[in-house]
Amino acid sequence: MTGKNSIEGSINEHNPYLHRKLYSPIDQELDILDCEVLEGHVPNDFHGSYVRNGPNPQFEPKGRHHWYDGDGMLHAVYVEDGRVSYRNKYIQTEVFEREKAAGQTLWGGLFEDPKNNPADMPIRDTSWTDVIFHNSNLLTLYYGTGVPYKVDPKTLETIGKETFKGKLLDKVSAHAKVDEHTGEMLFFDYFTKPPYMTYGVVSADGELTTCVPINLPGARLPHDMAFTKHYSILMDLPLFHDEEALKNGRYKIKFYRDLPARFGIIPRHGTSDQLRWFEAKPCYIYHVVNSWEDGDEVVMVGCRMPEPIPDISHIKRSDWVRRMSAIRKLKAYMYYWRFNLKTGKVTEGPLDDMVSEFPVVNLSYAGRKSNYSYHVLYSPEEDVSFEGIAKYDISTGAKSEKYLFGKGRYGNEPAFAPRINSKTEDDGYVLTFVYDEIEDRSELLILDAQHFSLGPIARIKMPQRVPMGAHATWVQGDQL
Ligand SMILES: [Fe+2]
Repeated sequence: MTGKNSIEGSINEHNPYLHRKLYSPIDQELDILDCEVLEGHVPNDFHGSYVRNGPNPQFEPKGRHHWYDGDGMLHAVYVEDGRVSYRNKYIQTEVFEREKAAGQTLWGGLFEDPKNNPADMPIRDTSWTDVIFHNSNLLTLYYGTGVPYKVDPKTLETIGKETFKGKLLDKVSAHAKVDEHTGEMLFFDYFTKPPYMTYGVVSADGELTTCVPINLPGARLPHDMAFTKHYSILMDLPLFHDEEALKNGRYKIKFYRDLPARFGIIPRHGTSDQLRWFEAKPCYIYHVVNSWEDGDEVVMVGCRMPEPIPDISHIKRSDWVRRMSAIRKLKAYMYYWRFNLKTGKVTEGPLDDMVSEFPVVNLSYAGRKSNYSYHVLYSPEEDVSFEGIAKYDISTGAKSEKYLFGKGRYGNEPAFAPRINSKTEDDGYVLTFVYDEIEDRSELLILDAQHFSLGPIARIKMPQRVPMGAHATWVQGDQL
């Protein structure tokens, strides 16, 4: 990005999210057939699309730029018959369209006072966080809760806001889930007034079939949820707003280490009074790995943060750029919880002592017993970047195999792509975008999930730089 932000002395002069090529925005929307294979070959026994969401500011920011302020942009590769094509497009959110018409940024970002933002939309919802596939379309989601945007999975054209035939009461959190066995989408929303949370289910054809209030003791900040064949799991975790500050219109987040982590288990189409709370050791969870039923127990595996607020006291308050990066390093560990529906007892414990995050599974196993998950590994550098991926196998006591991208190479949240007519859970491929800072080139890596540590079986050159982003998904070719 050129302009005043790159000029010496501007407030964002040293902001890596605008200037380091690993993160900085790109200008072009491309549609390229037959990408160049740099190494190996692309197998012809899988078919579909790996699509990843992430922030990519359209215009120069107004004030201090937070990485989360960018406009949502989707990058997608389509794999069919051993060939790869690439497309990227902005998500045409209301913010994006209004700013495009104005020719400039109208909203200040997370570091700036929302009182100066357009009064009808104080938060700059750009839908950059997650992308899922439901009812034949992609849905993009915003981390602070937002109205989902419906996007054509082939063209990446934004169709519009998805309100489920006008029935959506308000918003949807960053992470909604799709049960591939029923086609249903499960979601929650949270807000700062009682009841503080709602839980809902949307049918495979887009009807809102369940929407119930979830009474919490106060405003909470849940990020993810889980589901099994019959239940959904909602979270009341002890990382939330300082209530006094919130009353005065300020946001101050604290970890209340004397409070338990509470998990609310509700039948998928249940009512509020059917929800049962289970208490576990205090923690925060950004991302669940998977959940399933085992006899009388509901099992959940997730990336647990025992100390969710990193100590950044050594970084001066004025150094807001370094503080932003430091706070984004999620020190989370693979962990399990077992909630006994008969006795009400919870058993829990660590599965591994390695820091890993952004877990993904074979999506057809989501909500059902699974053994394998694929997590990113943080690089030791100060900016947030991923140096590799680990494949976990919990059937062997959460043993992991690792693949590191190599010096100056950084990855993204991967997705698992099953082989056509796959026979087993890990019968398929793991895909991720990697940016090579030395070569100034982005690649798509394809790894054979069953020979994971051997590294990619194919490296495909992307027609342009793909800046690091947020969440990703896989869409099966026969669904496109
Ligand atoms: Fe997330």
